[in-house]
Amino acid sequence: MRLSRIIFWGMSLVLCSILIQFPANICLAQNDPLETNPQNVETPVEETCASCHQQEWDAFAAGIHSENGLDCLTCHQAHDTGAGVHEDPMSDPKNIPDSCGACHSQEIVKSYNDSFHGRALSLGSSETADCTSCHNAHEIVKSTDPNSPVAVANLPDTCGQCHEARDNYAVGTEHKLLDPDGPGAPQYWTFKFFIWLTILSVVGLILHMEMELLYLLRKARKKA
Ligand code: HEC
Ligand code: HEC
Ligand code: HEC
Ligand code: HEC
Ligand code: HEC
Repeated sequence: MRLSRIIFWGMSLVLCSILIQFPANICLAQNDPLETNPQNVETPVEETCASCHQQEWDAFAAGIHSENGLDCLTCHQAHDTGAGVHEDPMSDPKNIPDSCGACHSQEIVKSYNDSFHGRALSLGSSETADCTSCHNAHEIVKSTDPNSPVAVANLPDTCGQCHEARDNYAVGTEHKLLDPDGPGAPQYWTFKFFIWLTILSVVGLILHMEMELLYLLRKARKKA
């Protein structure tokens, strides 16, 4: 008799708490998209993020990346605004080339790292160009698309954000490896020339010092 009462009240308690918890969970999930991991809920990532970042979503939706199945979390971490926005990996430009390089060819990343802009970035410049300065972060389209910031006709404006705009900015190839043939050849040979100039100068200097020392040694011996 006593045991069945305990079981009865126990079961009722469990049932009540489930009934109270269940709608509360649903409400939380709907009201605060950031409290939940967007990947675990039915709502697609874009809607969760777009509710606050409409501008970025519109730009992203118009680009080639959304066509190819990327979403916001490919590049960003979900964040909890309640606790203050935490450091997003993309807010440090030094992380950008490698994140893009996760999918794009290593030759593109290497050509960037070897460029003036890439070297300046690795030295901590905040004014230099990273991938998004020339391609945009969200509205990225094919480079042959006339709307692309790197389409030939738009390059003077794109480079002109930071440089004095000149038409000849559209003449060169931006992504070039330092190879003996191809568009990077002038830089390749200039680089080689200065490496050898340095090596030969140092060797010449040492030889010159050695000869002078030998001469002094001989002179001293003759005197002795
Ligand atoms: C409830 C509104 C809200 C939602 C939903 C939201 N954010 Fe934010 N987000 C903010 C606020 C507020 C800031 C800080 C103000 C700002 O920089 O615009 C911010 C800033 C950011 C930043 C810049 C962080 C930095 O370090 O500069 C990124 C990136 C970002 N959110 C990505 C996302 C992504 C991805 C999602 C979807 C998973 C998302 N947000 C969903 C409100 C939201
Ligand atoms: C291909 C990678 C990539 C994807 C996908 C991406 N972002 Fe970004 N996002 C970036 C980069 C890189 C930056 C830093 C921009 C800069 O340095 O100017 C950035 C910056 C931001 C910022 C900070 C404010 C700003 O515009 O500079 C917000 C907010 C943001 N992204 C939201 C989103 C949302 C929402 C989505 C999905 C619709 C999204 N991003 C998809 C790469 C991405
Ligand atoms: C100073 C401007 C600039 C910067 C910085 C830059 N790009 Fe480019 N990118 C261009 C231009 C201009 C083109 C058009 C083809 C060319 O000139 O090489 C291009 C073409 C591309 C292409 C398409 C062509 C191909 O060969 O596949 C991809 C992908 C690309 N860039 C990715 C990147 C990535 C990733 C980064 C960062 C590591 C980056 N770009 C940094 C200007 C830039
Ligand atoms: C998760 C993989 C992924 C990441 C990360 C990524 N991309 Fe892409 N990107 C793609 C795919 C897929 C395409 C479409 C196929 C193609 O043209 O290469 C594309 C296309 C492009 C194009 C157009 C290429 C062309 O042929 O003209 C550019 C420019 C570009 N991405 C730049 C970037 C930049 C800048 C970043 C970093 C902010 C980045 N991508 C990060 C997968 C990615
Ligand atoms: C976000 C700004 C920004 C953009 C966009 C940009 N650059 Fe630069 N670039 C820089 C900075 C900063 C330097 C380093 C200048 C210095 O310290 O002398 C630099 C250096 C250079 C140099 C090395 C020689 C010099 O003039 O100092 C060349 C060449 C160059 N950029 C070409 C380009 C071209 C071509 C484009 C467009 C495809 C471009 N840049 C777009 C910021 C930018």
